[in-house]
Amino acid sequence: MPGWSTDRRRMSDTQKPPRPGEVVLDVTPGAAAAGPSLEFIGEIRTPWGPDDCPRNLIQARETGAAARVILRPEFRPGLLGLEPGQHVILLYWMDRARRDLIRQNPRHGAGLRGAFALRSPIRPNPVSLATVRITTLDAQTGELGIDAIDCFDRTPLLDIKPWKPGIDIPDGRAP
Ligand SMILES: C[S@@+](CC[C@H](N)C(=O)[O-])C[C@H]1O[C@@H](n2cnc3c(N)ncnc32)[C@H](O)[C@@H]1O
Repeated sequence: MPGWSTDRRRMSDTQKPPRPGEVVLDVTPGAAAAGPSLEFIGEIRTPWGPDDCPRNLIQARETGAAARVILRPEFRPGLLGLEPGQHVILLYWMDRARRDLIRQNPRHGAGLRGAFALRSPIRPNPVSLATVRITTLDAQTGELGIDAIDCFDRTPLLDIKPWKPGIDIPDGRAP
């Protein structure tokens, strides 16, 4: 499957000078040789690139543009039990984000925030998540249609988990 390189960061991102108040780590996340290794199970195909990607899932849904998840062949048996109409949580790896900005001054935000107080793709481990609806599922080809998503085309996929209201809605709040 083409496009598995993880080295697709936009250099302009890593070279941008920090905005006022931002804090850049003096360690490079991910640079250590030791540590757990991750396996990308597939990739997400979207109409989006760095210049037109929706800012979040709400905006992605508003565009009306669907997307697809393509699983690598060895992981396709893991789709058993999923079906169209169901909601799943996707965990994906923001492969083109910088990882060293621990306090940020978001362009569209309300002042300085720590990376852990933001849904920004810029974080020490650039893991993102989205709860999406499966629209189609082909276990043979490993292809899932999904209603929408807010990532660039060919963003690597880390995991799929079923969304469970009893678990995922905190404190029994109504959806
Ligand atoms: C704010 S994040 C939200 C991601 C996820 N829905 C979440 O809440 O964790 C979405 C933004 O990440 C950026 N982005 C999308 N795909 C990316 C990728 N592969 N690498 C780096 N940045 C990406 C785009 O600017 C997009 O607007």
